[in-house]
Amino acid sequence: MDTADIRRRFLAHFEDAGHTAVPSAPLLLDDPNLLFVNAGMVPFKPYFLGQETPPYDRAVSVQKCVRTPDIEDVGKTTRHGTFFEMCGNFSFGDYFKERAIELAWDLVTKPVVDGGWGLEESRLWPSILQGDDEALKLWMKVTGLPAERIVRLGPKENYWSMGVPGPGGPCSELLYDRGPEYGPDGEFATTTRTAMPVELEDRYLEIWNLVFMQDELSAVRSKEDFDISGSLPRKNIDTGMGLERVAFLLQGKQNMYEIDVMFPVIQRAEELTGRRYGANHEDDVRFRVVADHVRSSMMLIGDGVTPGNEARGYVLRRLLRRAVRSMRLLGYDSPALPELMPLSRDKMGETYVDLVRDWERIARVAFAEEETFRKTLQAGTQIFDLAARDVVGRGGTRLSGDQAFALHDTYGFPIDLTLEMAAEQGLTVDEEGFRGLMGEQRQRAKADARSKKGQHADTSVYRGILDANGPTEWLAYETLETESRPLALLQEGRPATALAAGEIGELVLDRTPFYAESGGQVADAGTIAFDGGVLEVVDVQRPVRGLVVHQVRVLEGEFAPRGDLHARVDPDWRTGARQAHSGTHVVHAALREVLGPSALQSGSYNRPGYLRLDFGWTTGLSQEQVRDIETVSNQALRADLPVGWQYMTLSEAKEWGAIALFGETYDDSKVRVVEIGGPWSRELCGGTHVDHASQIGTVVVTSEASVGSGNRRIEALTGVEGFAHLARERDLVAQLTGLLKVQPDGVVGRVQDMVERLRAAEKELERARQAQLLAGGGGLAAAAVDVAGVAVVAHRVDGAAGGDVRTLALDVRGRLDASRPGAVVIAGVADGKVSVVAAVNDAGRARGVSANDLVRAVGQLVGGRGGGKDDVAQGGGSDASRVDEALALVATEVARAAGA
Ligand code: ALA
Repeated sequence: MDTADIRRRFLAHFEDAGHTAVPSAPLLLDDPNLLFVNAGMVPFKPYFLGQETPPYDRAVSVQKCVRTPDIEDVGKTTRHGTFFEMCGNFSFGDYFKERAIELAWDLVTKPVVDGGWGLEESRLWPSILQGDDEALKLWMKVTGLPAERIVRLGPKENYWSMGVPGPGGPCSELLYDRGPEYGPDGEFATTTRTAMPVELEDRYLEIWNLVFMQDELSAVRSKEDFDISGSLPRKNIDTGMGLERVAFLLQGKQNMYEIDVMFPVIQRAEELTGRRYGANHEDDVRFRVVADHVRSSMMLIGDGVTPGNEARGYVLRRLLRRAVRSMRLLGYDSPALPELMPLSRDKMGETYVDLVRDWERIARVAFAEEETFRKTLQAGTQIFDLAARDVVGRGGTRLSGDQAFALHDTYGFPIDLTLEMAAEQGLTVDEEGFRGLMGEQRQRAKADARSKKGQHADTSVYRGILDANGPTEWLAYETLETESRPLALLQEGRPATALAAGEIGELVLDRTPFYAESGGQVADAGTIAFDGGVLEVVDVQRPVRGLVVHQVRVLEGEFAPRGDLHARVDPDWRTGARQAHSGTHVVHAALREVLGPSALQSGSYNRPGYLRLDFGWTTGLSQEQVRDIETVSNQALRADLPVGWQYMTLSEAKEWGAIALFGETYDDSKVRVVEIGGPWSRELCGGTHVDHASQIGTVVVTSEASVGSGNRRIEALTGVEGFAHLARERDLVAQLTGLLKVQPDGVVGRVQDMVERLRAAEKELERARQAQLLAGGGGLAAAAVDVAGVAVVAHRVDGAAGGDVRTLALDVRGRLDASRPGAVVIAGVADGKVSVVAAVNDAGRARGVSANDLVRAVGQLVGGRGGGKDDVAQGGGSDASRVDEALALVATEVARAAGA
């Protein structure tokens, strides 16, 4: 059964059971805690956290995922892939344990002809969290299996959380017994185990994880060490099934790298390297790394990641380089990605069609990185040679850990390459020292990551404030100023008694007019005045529902949290924010009017004067479509559509046709629906808005571009920023009309005309230059000097680079008497660089003169290298000061070769 078929069956099974199929989100989501989407539930996180109301109760998806902590295990086990697809079904407060178990069991055991996978029941082993008697009973009831066929495991395996405070719960895994060839027989289920024994992992393959999300966690210290602070108000289901794992079982393969969508890359790598997959373990691991990393990096580039030295870019760089290096270790030194990645595209592109559409860009990014790496390797090799010579020179046999680390850290030179090259020269490497230095570096990186994680990672302190004081009275919709009392002050996450001038802290008030960042709208700016000073409000967040936290900086005085305060939102800021947020809704409605209702917002951001809107759409918009969106938006402004909001239940909102998007707030069971022009725009939204569309001022669309596969972004300016932008453009046009002496309408025509003329002039100039260059050829040939019976021309041309030098050298050779031996060397000097071309005629070669030797001789002096064949060779260097000296050498070299 091919992978596409397995994916289809999964979706169909759950759609038949009332789930909404949700397309995979891109690998990058705006989440400070996540490098990449690493599980099917990630795009649904706001629903699980109760921050947003899901537009459906049940969903099913096949989500692209990347996990890289196990990158070193790739290829060594059967099942570690850096990119994988996770099939999942989700219930948001709808069905729970029993139905989740039924649905999973049904799909895996249902015969293939009925749309299932037809796995034998005798091979399936459900597991539960030890002590979860409810799950035990349900599995027995649904499957008819006896208690001893149900494995009990500890929380390390069978409790799932996101690794941070938030929702979590016990899980059940479905394990598939691949048979005694893959691990020892034994009394598997009778005892409770804390973890799956390593020797059984290959035999009992985990294929599906069902998470029964029921707990609220206040702290997570490790997989086994966390605090459960209560039950979630609504219980959820989150499951994850590894598509590649099921594929390799159903395709009768040994591991995920051999499935239909991955193996073609291995086959091509076999052809390129001349080695055989399956011959020895070491090479097999390399083949698998190639197949995995080529696919993962292609998917990452497809979603907009580019190689770099930090965070996501670094992961991509590492994947690409590991793939290239593995090919090298397999004995293949030429550029590998152009040979391999297209095969991965052909397979993955069947599902992710953007890979085909965006291929040119993806290939460009990937292949350029391979080129850069090849250069790095070249530079590293020279440094390695120096280090090795140094060791040998001192009579040693061992490269130090420092040297190996410097090669790795500065030149990106992987340790296994260092080891291999050292071995070739009979040297060893202080690996322990190297690993020690690597460990220290990793510690530094970890500490850095921890400090960047932000102040909201542990919410228990906010929960404490909320429990002690109740929710903040939140007046952002009603007023811009309030008299407030301070309830709590924090500094760096801990209670504080005072803040000195310039210091930053977090302040909780009993009531506030400040809008906390949510639903894409940034937090309000403003001040909080106290007796003796003023605080500037830098940010406003709601780390736990109901509690508004102001991040403040002391502008004047020393602040102690007591007495009466005066909180005031900057009114200009708020006006701008309302314009931008209403503008976002207007642009969204206009977008759907122009493109059709399938264009749906996938994210948004707005701050005073600026908005951006991301939406699911696979093709670029035409200029006309962009213009239409802007026009429809401004028509809504001119019609001065009324803006209003009301609270209703979610189902009422849906009946009303309101669009539920990310970021809306809801008060218990009530949601807030914002409408503009009645049904024209209805969205669930908690933001602040204008009262009438004309108050938005104007909407000026400034860009439309791709942001990863399947998503596009529109940016626009509103209010005075919009007008200011138009004014700047008008100034620009005025400058151009002045400069070009035409009316505004004539600017484009005039510029086009000028560009064309410029091109023609450049071409003409190039022709003249060539002619002039070659015109000198006759004179040079005539001035050839005789060296041991060989006519020799050695000449310098200033201002000529590679191609010209070659043309001239060949031209001069052609003008020499072909019956006599002749050799020509031309050295061009341009921008401090030297290009050398040597050309020798047949008779010259018969006398033993070689163009290759001539170029080498000259190249050595000018600080470069080069080579070619005996008849024509080309080289270059960077030391222009020695060109004349080098050319003088030509005669000597010819004399030597001609045996004089
Ligand atoms: N979220 C669960 C996992 O990643 C299903 O295993």
